[in-house]
Amino acid sequence: MENVKEQSNSPIVAFDLGSKNSVVVSDGKVVVDVPSIMAISYEEGVVRILAKWEDAMRMVGRVSQNFMFLHENNFHYNNVEYFVRELALEAKEQCPISAETRIGVGIPIDFTYAKRLCLREAFEKFGCTNVFVMKSPFAVAISQGLDVSGTHGIMIIDIGNEKTQIAVLCMDRIVVEKCIPVGGDSFTRAIQNGVRCEYSIRISEHSSEEIKKILGTTNPNVENAPSEYVVRGPHQVTASPMEKNLSSDEIAGWFDELAKSIENSVYNVLEETPPELFNDIASDGIWLSGGGSLLHGLSERLEKQTNIKVKPVDEPFHSVARGVEMAMKDMNNYQFIVKL
Ligand SMILES: Nc1ncnc2c1ncn2[C@@H]1O[C@H](COP(=O)(O)OP(=O)(O)OP(=O)(O)O)[C@@H](O)[C@H]1O
Ligand SMILES: [Mg+2]
Repeated sequence: MENVKEQSNSPIVAFDLGSKNSVVVSDGKVVVDVPSIMAISYEEGVVRILAKWEDAMRMVGRVSQNFMFLHENNFHYNNVEYFVRELALEAKEQCPISAETRIGVGIPIDFTYAKRLCLREAFEKFGCTNVFVMKSPFAVAISQGLDVSGTHGIMIIDIGNEKTQIAVLCMDRIVVEKCIPVGGDSFTRAIQNGVRCEYSIRISEHSSEEIKKILGTTNPNVENAPSEYVVRGPHQVTASPMEKNLSSDEIAGWFDELAKSIENSVYNVLEETPPELFNDIASDGIWLSGGGSLLHGLSERLEKQTNIKVKPVDEPFHSVARGVEMAMKDMNNYQFIVKL
């Protein structure tokens, strides 16, 4: 990709197209913050959007309907084009978006060339050609006011919905990186599977996510954890109504392997980090972002395993979009911002 940047004072709009939530920031304000989902119908080659965001979310698991997501496997031309258009239209109600607007997009560290092309085409179709991308750990760091261009090492962990990204940054570069397909959604599915395998009860993804937020923890015997939650659903074979008390401790057992895989990846990255940068990280701490990082007990586990302080960012759901906007204001000084 050519790295041509333009000197301009045109407005900046920043996008974070997450697999669970999409965020748009302009002029320091979060102008769109919605679940990345649309309910659609597809008749005679024509796609009709029936419901978007929270309204579409309410339909999941209740009515038989086609849905459009921004999941890893759904990130292709049609989907991205619809999402970019609908998000931009929504943002346009609060901030100007025109051909001159400088659009910044935070992308995951494992974003492929094919996905970049998709993104470019989607923005071009909306009339935006002034589009730039940056890998999201840079944005997270900038959102916290950190100097990513300096010689000091910075470590960022972003636990999103579908993936965990771990990166060590120094002098505008990613020095060590790792991205694994484990995120908040993996923990949601672990509850769904656990309840089905242990008690033969079928529960929806929505209930499973709710249980995760209320009762979920990666550590057994945590203090202040709610002790029980009554889960209800049909028996998977007889379809009789079933209910069962779930405890935090048993959920911690279902989460253990997933938490370990995040821990191991963090450990691998630290192992590969040059000693100078390691010392910076050991004294400053590790920054933790993304909605998946809110899972009870996870940051304590990482802290215990690494012996390094783990610091939650201010706004785990907005840090990427906020950081993209801040970085775009100084785009000519940052080598990691590239034209899409
Ligand atoms: N209080 C909470 N406790 C545990 N998990 C939570 C909580 N709130 C949200 N989550 C989880 O956070 C995840 C969404 O986080 P986020 O918005 O950062 O993901 P995303 O950016 O859309 O995903 P990705 O970066 O993987 O594309 C979901 O899996 C959600 O269940
Ligand atoms: Mg994300």
